[in-house]
Amino acid sequence: MNDRALWSGRFSTPPAPEAQALGHSLDVDRALVGEDVRAGTAHVEALRDAGLLNDDDARRLTDALAQVRDAILAGTFAFDPTDEDIHSAVERGVTDLLGDAGAKLHAGRSRNDLVATDVRLHLLALATAAAEDIRAVARVLIARAGEHIDDPMPGSTHVRPAQPITVGHHLCAHAWALARDLDRFADWRRRASVSPLGAGALATSTLGIDPVATAARLGFDRSFDNSVDAVSDRDVLQEAVAVASICATHLSRLAADLLRWTDPALGWAELDEAFSTGSSMMPQKRNPDTAELARGKAARIAGDFVTLAAMLQGLPLGYQRDLQEDKEPAFDALETVGVVARALAGAVHTLRIDVVAMRAACADPGLYATDVAEALVKGGVPFRDAHRRTGELLRSLADEERTLADLDADAWNTFGVPEGAGLLDPDRSIAARTAPGGPSHGSVEAQLAALDALLAP
Ligand code: ARG
Repeated sequence: MNDRALWSGRFSTPPAPEAQALGHSLDVDRALVGEDVRAGTAHVEALRDAGLLNDDDARRLTDALAQVRDAILAGTFAFDPTDEDIHSAVERGVTDLLGDAGAKLHAGRSRNDLVATDVRLHLLALATAAAEDIRAVARVLIARAGEHIDDPMPGSTHVRPAQPITVGHHLCAHAWALARDLDRFADWRRRASVSPLGAGALATSTLGIDPVATAARLGFDRSFDNSVDAVSDRDVLQEAVAVASICATHLSRLAADLLRWTDPALGWAELDEAFSTGSSMMPQKRNPDTAELARGKAARIAGDFVTLAAMLQGLPLGYQRDLQEDKEPAFDALETVGVVARALAGAVHTLRIDVVAMRAACADPGLYATDVAEALVKGGVPFRDAHRRTGELLRSLADEERTLADLDADAWNTFGVPEGAGLLDPDRSIAARTAPGGPSHGSVEAQLAALDALLAP
């Protein structure tokens, strides 16, 4: 066993334990062991292609890398205090197994290009998993929307009754937001799929290593354009976390709607017991913690973005050790958004929607005031006048403790809207909104077809 750090050659004193404790990142970056060994294996092939390793050494290195990975994953690897990160641990493990042949592994590479490569590979995998979880919530939303394409509910603005829409239309609105998040992940992937390996510490190497072949071996679309950029920038993490944060915001707004709908004071829906929690003191309670945590986790993921932005701003180019702090927020954001998405998919799938209560809430005559004003507009009244006249009608009715529902045919005729009483009907109001993207049956059917295609795996 080696008792010195990888870089100990020009040092006469080992690092102070306090400095070692500060620099130690294994707890976080051991998640990269699979990627570190993949990148190491591709690098071995690059060294062999460059004539720096014979076939025998290349095979021994590849086998040793796999052996170290398996031991780390199995929990049988003996970590050493000098293993400051996963890259050091893997290289030391290989060197302990192979001696001189192991010591050839790091030629032409640096932990700077290695960590950038490992992290990209890991993020690509995490983003694929997160996107699948997000797609699943969106698919549950469109399935539920399809069940409720003709069920009216009061749509709201300012959390107050506004105009009737359908439950299907409202659920589709959440699905559209998530479909855009999936598109953002797909777009990010184009920029993320670039291999930094071969950039070395910052200036490539003199060893004739081909980064393009390495990129292809690792499944990246291409290799870096500039070696300094390759080891310095972390925009690929920032962008992934930004997308995760936008998506978490969307999921938090879905959660907010679940909380509102399931508020006993409104009674439009009920969360299944499996997605509810009890109180440690109050026996009667059934609390919506799943939705509340979905809301709360969005704050934490936004915080992950701020951590990265704060750590990166103002850093001159080149690798700086500050960059080691990039992994925790990035991994946390991509993992957490998936955890939230999976819980919400279950909560929405099992949600009991009370269509009778929602339809009953559509009896509020105020929901049709805009339909009344628009009926006047269709008769030639300028909208501003129609709005004022309808508002004045509502005010005088309110003064008499009456509503639009109390007007008889004569009163509607006098007001200039003979069809008045018939307007106070959610199904009619919704059916009349035939614009594409609106709440009508035909529009929501078209939305569902479009979403179904967009959300195909
Ligand atoms: N653990 C380091 C990180 O995560 C790896 C790169 C170390 N490079 C260096 N020049 N010290 O950033």
